[in-house]
Amino acid sequence: MHGSRDYFLTSERLGFSHWREDDLALAMTLWGDPKVAAFLGGPFTPEEVSARLSREIAMMIACKVQYWPVFLLENNDLVGCAGLRPYTNDGHILKLGFHLRPDYWGQGLAHEAARAVIAFAFETPAIESLFAGHHPANEASERLLKKLGFRWTHEEIYPPTGLMNPAYRLMNPQASEMSPQKPIWSSY
Ligand SMILES: CC(C)(COP(=O)(O)OP(=O)(O)OC[C@H]1O[C@@H](n2cnc3c(N)ncnc32)[C@H](O)[C@@H]1OP(=O)(O)O)[C@@H](O)C(=O)NCCC(=O)NCCS
Repeated sequence: MHGSRDYFLTSERLGFSHWREDDLALAMTLWGDPKVAAFLGGPFTPEEVSARLSREIAMMIACKVQYWPVFLLENNDLVGCAGLRPYTNDGHILKLGFHLRPDYWGQGLAHEAARAVIAFAFETPAIESLFAGHHPANEASERLLKKLGFRWTHEEIYPPTGLMNPAYRLMNPQASEMSPQKPIWSSY
């Protein structure tokens, strides 16, 4: 249980907040867990978790997106993170990601979090589509992406593991044409 946070986005059971500089202990309960890190290139040391936290904070400042920390509305416990990061440099294609703490697996919470993030992203017509990938052995992630409507497009390398990962795309039905030179975060 943690003090309540401000939520900029909510779903039925979940509240989305922003990572803060003083969240290292909280971040350790997520990315410091070897079960969470298994398909992400971990296990991660506290220094690596701290660097990851700093990257998420920097991402929010630069691109107005991050893998936001997600809390259970019922008790403000950290469920995990779910969110976006740039996939193309212009930001017209964003990457969807979700990492949940094992206590919360198997309850449909990743699906609920991902659906909220997708709806949030697709409110911006300049976002053409979302990209997602997964470790080849991550059956839960594969199943979840297909259930969300993602379609397989190709295989590509995931640098943290050095493995080829299946890659998927979900198109934004509201997408509009925009100059490819204009970074998308300038239009938020
Ligand atoms: C992948 C992950 C996000 C799934 O979270 P979750 O909350 O358990 O997923 P959900 O309960 O929303 O289930 C989504 C679908 O995946 C299926 N699923 C969940 N765990 C599964 C497993 N271990 N094997 C196969 N399918 C699984 C569910 O049955 C469900 O499909 P269904 O509705 O057709 O039955 C979670 O396991 C996780 O955070 N893992 C560690 C970090 C990670 O690997 N993230 C993904 C990086 S690509």
